[in-house]
Amino acid sequence: MKITFVGSEATPFAKTGGLADVLGSLPKTLAQMGHEVSLIMPKHQAIKTQYEKALTTVYTGTIKVHHDDKYIGIQRLSQGGVNVYFIDNEYYFGLRPHLYGDYDDGERYGYFAHGVIRTLQEVLPSQAIVHLNDWQTGLIPYLMKYDRKYRDLQSVKTIFTIHNIAYQGRFSKALMSHLNTDYSDLLEFDDVINFLKTGIMTADQVTTVSPTYKDNLQYAYFAYGMQGVLKMRGESFSGIINGIDLETFNPATDDAIQKPYDASKMVSGKKANKKALMEQFGLKNANLPLVGMVSRITESKGFNLVADVIPPMVEKGLINFVLLGSGDPYYEDTFQDFHDQMPDHLGVYFGYSDGLARQVYAGSDLFLMPSRFEPCGLSQLIAMRYGTLPVVHKTGGLKDTVEPFNEYTLEGTGFGFDTFDAEDLKQALLLAISVHGESDTFKMLQKRAMAQDFSWTQSANDYVKLYHEVMKRG
Ligand code: GLC
Repeated sequence: MKITFVGSEATPFAKTGGLADVLGSLPKTLAQMGHEVSLIMPKHQAIKTQYEKALTTVYTGTIKVHHDDKYIGIQRLSQGGVNVYFIDNEYYFGLRPHLYGDYDDGERYGYFAHGVIRTLQEVLPSQAIVHLNDWQTGLIPYLMKYDRKYRDLQSVKTIFTIHNIAYQGRFSKALMSHLNTDYSDLLEFDDVINFLKTGIMTADQVTTVSPTYKDNLQYAYFAYGMQGVLKMRGESFSGIINGIDLETFNPATDDAIQKPYDASKMVSGKKANKKALMEQFGLKNANLPLVGMVSRITESKGFNLVADVIPPMVEKGLINFVLLGSGDPYYEDTFQDFHDQMPDHLGVYFGYSDGLARQVYAGSDLFLMPSRFEPCGLSQLIAMRYGTLPVVHKTGGLKDTVEPFNEYTLEGTGFGFDTFDAEDLKQALLLAISVHGESDTFKMLQKRAMAQDFSWTQSANDYVKLYHEVMKRG
């Protein structure tokens, strides 16, 4: 089957979040299954600096924006069996170090949408499925179905996947003059242009990245205004869980960690990695359970709870704690202060380092992920693969992937709490700490976590099934 993925970021080319991991691995898995898979994304600055020599230009032309004809180049390289196409425009993408957050994001991703259409017309004709991701691609199914210039693409089936509904691509209606298409209600929500809504309303099928998040999105608390719009899609909205790339995340071959290990060498491997991680952060007392976090530092990742619960536990000598990530300056300052007060037991690194992240996954005993909401979450999957037991808020994909420890049956692959408050998180951590003390049970849980199948195979099959279903709808 000919499948084209579209999104604004994909590993290894550009990454700000989990979307990049998905677009770096799901297309590859489908290609390995024998499908003919392409990926279209903007040519961000980092791609220009790192991949220029590997790129072949396959098309050049212009795209109309407002009264101007803007340059478009389409460049290709092949990666892991996937043909990756970059939309090249120096002004919109090449000169900026960041991917989003500019005053003209609406214009940039509006241009990108027309660029994707051009790619489908000129380079990738007769695709069975165009699989779009997040708000940056929301305009595309609208253009394909409703814009008369693009009638040739009307019958191509589209899937639109929501990776995080909090980001919607909302712009003032003044943007209309730059979108080179006719106005319709489908483009608007609450008196502004909303690309996410457009994608939800106009794709043939809408999906999100876990069954529980799909259910969560019926409620205003989770849906950021989109609950009604999603409800209108009825059965055409479904949830498929993400996988991870088992080659990229493999404790047995990971050369970023102190001592690689598989399940049979788990105990000695984790011990060596814990020691190295503690040295790296200057922490003392390896007998204490080491709780790690790798996360964007934001309220939605549960940092208000973490700030309430973790420091007193560290102070009481119950745990050590390491935090890796960046984000909200308020929380960065708060945790810097905690570190300054307890440097031997609480370590921080503000920024991102892939190698250090892997060391946290490998060297921690427990991995904390108390997100207020979580569409899927990938870190908990990586943590389990590295034998680190996640402590999670049972929401979205966290609920679907971590089986909370049951004191009576001894089943589980981690620890969970139901209510998003400090007390519940504390109880879950106390339970985890006490199980850490019974080292046989803890080891059994670690081995079980490592043995889970988080590969893409199952999910990729689910997507293929869905593609066939959508194509059958005629
Ligand atoms: C977003 C979500 C995260 C999900 C990822 C990939 O980053 O916040 O939960 O795992 O997308 O789908």
